[in-house]
Amino acid sequence: MALLGVNIDHVATLRNARGGSYPDPLAAALIAEANGADGITAHLREDRRHIRDEDIQALKAQIKTRLNLEMANTPEMVEIALNAKPYMVTLVPERRQELTTEGGLDVIRYLDSLKESTTTLQTAGIKVSLFIDPDLRQLEASRQTGAAIVEFHTGTYCEAFGGPEQAKALAALMKAAEQAVAWGIEVNAGHGLNYDNVQPVLAMPGLVELNIGHSIIGESVFTGLASAVSRMKALIS
Ligand code: PXP
Repeated sequence: MALLGVNIDHVATLRNARGGSYPDPLAAALIAEANGADGITAHLREDRRHIRDEDIQALKAQIKTRLNLEMANTPEMVEIALNAKPYMVTLVPERRQELTTEGGLDVIRYLDSLKESTTTLQTAGIKVSLFIDPDLRQLEASRQTGAAIVEFHTGTYCEAFGGPEQAKALAALMKAAEQAVAWGIEVNAGHGLNYDNVQPVLAMPGLVELNIGHSIIGESVFTGLASAVSRMKALIS
């Protein structure tokens, strides 16, 4: 059964819209946990547009499940992770202007620096996951970094869902996951998953965890967060 990591960034976006402390991403994390989340994911962006440094500290101190800190591969972020000691770091590409994480890491291009950060973090006892497209060349490069986990970007599949390219996009995820398993790399997946498109992804070989944010927080506007999380949990169980 795949684990559910709930991404709470969008709660922080809502909070920041008014500059106060409501709604509190920590409170959302605790509700998510109480309703089936196996982990909490938060992306500390360079521009701190949603999650802030103090959110990471509060989450680390108070959640009872696993904190997955998403971040760019920069010296500043590596330092923050070493201090915060989350359960896991997911390294993602980051551009300031993007609306959300667009595409996976180019591990081939940034191999040396990803390898260095992965070694530093894993030596400190923090699991490292690399967010990559389901592309065998990027997977091979990921293997060379020594990262124990990869998170496959499901965005192409999600965009293709219900159309003629869906089967091809899903097959790419299956193939990449199969190769990861063969190489002893743990498999996570996420981005763009929702209540309609999530179930076919569950067939990915070796799948450990799905990270889902936007659809769950969006649904919570209509049904409440507890119901939105438990419904997703039921779908993936
Ligand atoms: N996984 C990673 C690495 C991400 O960057 C994101 C978006 O922040 C997600 C999963 C969750 O994507 P979504 O919000 O589309 O569910």
